[in-house]
Amino acid sequence: MNAITFLGNSTMMIPSQCILRAFTRISPSKYIRDPALRSYPSRFSSCVNQNKNPDSNRILTPTNAVPFCTDRQSSVTAQVVSEARSLSASTTCANDPTVDRIYTKNGLNVKPLDLNKLKGDEKDEEVINGDGYEGIKSNETEEEAWRLLRDSVVTYCDSPVGTMAAKDPTDTMPSNYDQVFIRDFVPSALAFLLKGESEIVRNFLLHTLQLQSWEKTVDCYSPGQGLMPASFKVRTLPLEEDKFEEVLDPDFGEAAIGRVAPVDSGLWWIILLRAYGKITGDYSLQERIDVQTGIKMIANLCLADGFDMFPTLLVTDGSCMIDRRMGIHGHPLEIQALFYSALRSSREMITVNDSSKNIIKTISNRLSALSFHIRENYWVDKNKINEIYRYKTEEYSMDATNKFNIYPEQVSPWLMDWVPESSDCGFLIGNLQPAHMDFRFFTLGNLLSIISSLGTPKQNQAILNLIEEKWDDLVGHMPLKICYPALESSEWHIITGSDPKNTPWSYHNGGSWPTLLWQFTLACIKMGRPELAEKAVTLAEKRLQADRWPEYYDTRNGKFIGKQSRLYQTWTIAGFLTSKQLLQNPEIASSLFWEEDLELLETCVCVLTKAGRKKCSRAAAKSQILI
Ligand code: GLC
Repeated sequence: MNAITFLGNSTMMIPSQCILRAFTRISPSKYIRDPALRSYPSRFSSCVNQNKNPDSNRILTPTNAVPFCTDRQSSVTAQVVSEARSLSASTTCANDPTVDRIYTKNGLNVKPLDLNKLKGDEKDEEVINGDGYEGIKSNETEEEAWRLLRDSVVTYCDSPVGTMAAKDPTDTMPSNYDQVFIRDFVPSALAFLLKGESEIVRNFLLHTLQLQSWEKTVDCYSPGQGLMPASFKVRTLPLEEDKFEEVLDPDFGEAAIGRVAPVDSGLWWIILLRAYGKITGDYSLQERIDVQTGIKMIANLCLADGFDMFPTLLVTDGSCMIDRRMGIHGHPLEIQALFYSALRSSREMITVNDSSKNIIKTISNRLSALSFHIRENYWVDKNKINEIYRYKTEEYSMDATNKFNIYPEQVSPWLMDWVPESSDCGFLIGNLQPAHMDFRFFTLGNLLSIISSLGTPKQNQAILNLIEEKWDDLVGHMPLKICYPALESSEWHIITGSDPKNTPWSYHNGGSWPTLLWQFTLACIKMGRPELAEKAVTLAEKRLQADRWPEYYDTRNGKFIGKQSRLYQTWTIAGFLTSKQLLQNPEIASSLFWEEDLELLETCVCVLTKAGRKKCSRAAAKSQILI
């Protein structure tokens, strides 16, 4: 029976004793210390007996699944899913280094990008930019950045598996910054991939896949199957005599400040998997059965039915890059843009067959609804704000204009002053809930919306226009503000819970984060405006090396190094390097973003047609939704 049939039959009856054995809960430390249990997958397998290749690191055991399930049928499914992963190790050609790296995807020959043609390795050049500044030789800064990035690499059983969040040699209290964060590794991965070094990324993708769905418990409760950890650490544990073993120890939020599950991790993992295929041309990784299962598990977790009325993903505060209370619970833009990007990636990567038909359909429908909802309801420009300012409230009807019952008093003075006059400028707001619009500008969500085409082409241009127009506020001395404006006074007290790290214009509360440079660069390249990105990169280059690569900057325009900012922060370094490489290789950059998908628009128009609102056709899709 092949693994797919095996999955298809996964609801077969299994004696209850088996299930009990498979899902009995044993604490992680017990696994480590009890040699009888040491056959547990990657997290607790010993390097001593282990093949260094993560491809071989899938040991099938009865416990290789989500423990602590109470539902018999889903328990069995979980176990079988996991067994399919194990089977896949022997069925992929990826184990064979002699296999040519040109693969056939969905019947089409896909030509890998020629990494020998990558630009960016040329020798030193003096940078003299527009305002007469004679920068440090660009390559000197880049050389240091590369040295630091390589120095931050974490190995597991002698193979590179990720980069630690920060590596400041003078920092004696690294907290969890010595761990590999999933979201932080993305720019590192891109920098390595664009340099033609893919091993670390492949290892990272496979090892984190092994960590997926590991028992994650907060106060006796285990959240959904498919969750990816926020971070992991390689720990060295003593064995008998003078032997040691290395284990991967994931953190799903159970140790994190605030105990928040990282919703973004799985979404970033899927996006990175797609990028790996696009840049290396090695599509065999995403075609593996265990990897396919991983994609579907993340997608299923996000697509599960609940009580929500919106196509956006409902999350708790701090479930993404902003990982502490900042009033972004509900439907924050960053998560929606990541969700959209991950669903688009999944739709490209999930192998089409009988068993995947339904999930592909569900993904397509959700993509349509999600983009329609965001484009219609999150978009603001001067005219829209004026419309909201004049809203009538308490409209009980299917045709209400003010669908979410927004009270116009929410349009605060800063917004009325700040929004540019021109209708060529606008942005997607931070969050939308009943009677609540969060009008703050969140940079990552807006940039990802451009990159993934969550926004319309016109909206995408208008967001970049706004950034250009509001350069002093959003870029200032250091690109880019994480959000604008900061929460101050009583708002800061109430919304952040008086968080001393998130004081106004610091850290998540209006701080400036250089790591956001790579998403900005990608968005600018996509919209045909690389000069805007070059301007920001030049600005960052003036200070980053001298300031020792800080995590974030403080003040209204990013003048000072953040008061509690880590130094030698890896995603600052990697974001800078990735931006440089993307600018030097716009052709490769273009494989990382998404163009408008008319098929998705058509689905949406057709759904609206059923509700009697629009005519169903591709032309209608173009004219009605491509605003
Ligand atoms: C902080 C950031 C988070 C990042 C982590 C490691 O907690 O808020 O986004 O992943 O540091 O750098």
